[in-house]
Amino acid sequence: MAKDVIVACDFPSREAFDAFLALFTDCKPFLKIGMELYYACGPDIVKEAKRRGHKVFLDLKLHDIPNTVGKATSVLNELGADICNVHAAGGVKMMAAARTALREDALLIAVTQLTSTSAQMLKEELLIDQPMEDVISHYALNAKAAGLNGIVCSPLEAAVVKKVCGEDFITVTPGIRFADAAADDQVRITTPAKAREIGSDYIVVGRPITAAQDPVAAYKRCVAEFLNK
Ligand code: C5P
Repeated sequence: MAKDVIVACDFPSREAFDAFLALFTDCKPFLKIGMELYYACGPDIVKEAKRRGHKVFLDLKLHDIPNTVGKATSVLNELGADICNVHAAGGVKMMAAARTALREDALLIAVTQLTSTSAQMLKEELLIDQPMEDVISHYALNAKAAGLNGIVCSPLEAAVVKKVCGEDFITVTPGIRFADAAADDQVRITTPAKAREIGSDYIVVGRPITAAQDPVAAYKRCVAEFLNK
């Protein structure tokens, strides 16, 4: 199973994206393009990243009725993203519609619960009484039943997901922080090394790299800690 560090390119403009990528002269990180950059620049930003030789996780977290999500996914096909995602909360039919619509060579994963969601928020705001781990396992099984390739979850939940869905089911885990850094708005977090130990296949890292004084050094530290090299 491929393991890699994915850099969350949460930038407000093409200029900021270009300036960030210009720093990486001797490597081509796997990039995550999310709502902020996509909405700011439009679909061409994905093609541009691919043209420059990067792998791309297009993190648009689709969540709507099955027909709409299926059709929207078909439109995304031409951008060439390597990974796309939907919200597991949309249900099995919605996830299956997206999987049917997406190119076979692209991975489709489902967001279980956002890594900014705490146990208290799950219970008090979302009115979900089951423990976080049970909710994540259940959403992961739904994603598997819909034919998806894996899920997005906190690294803390990667082991239980592997246990219930099998080793081949991919875990993509944001909520990564260096041991000596701030958590920001993330709640269910851990370090790159611990994420590897628990069973993450891909870690998604944003601010610890993009807001670092030396983003390239921070990226390389992340790769070294996660891949144990
Ligand atoms: O800056 P930071 O490392 O917190 O960035 C994490 C990235 O992962 C953000 O782009 C966020 O949208 C995304 N993400 C997340 N939790 C999820 C799914 C995606 O933090 N469950």
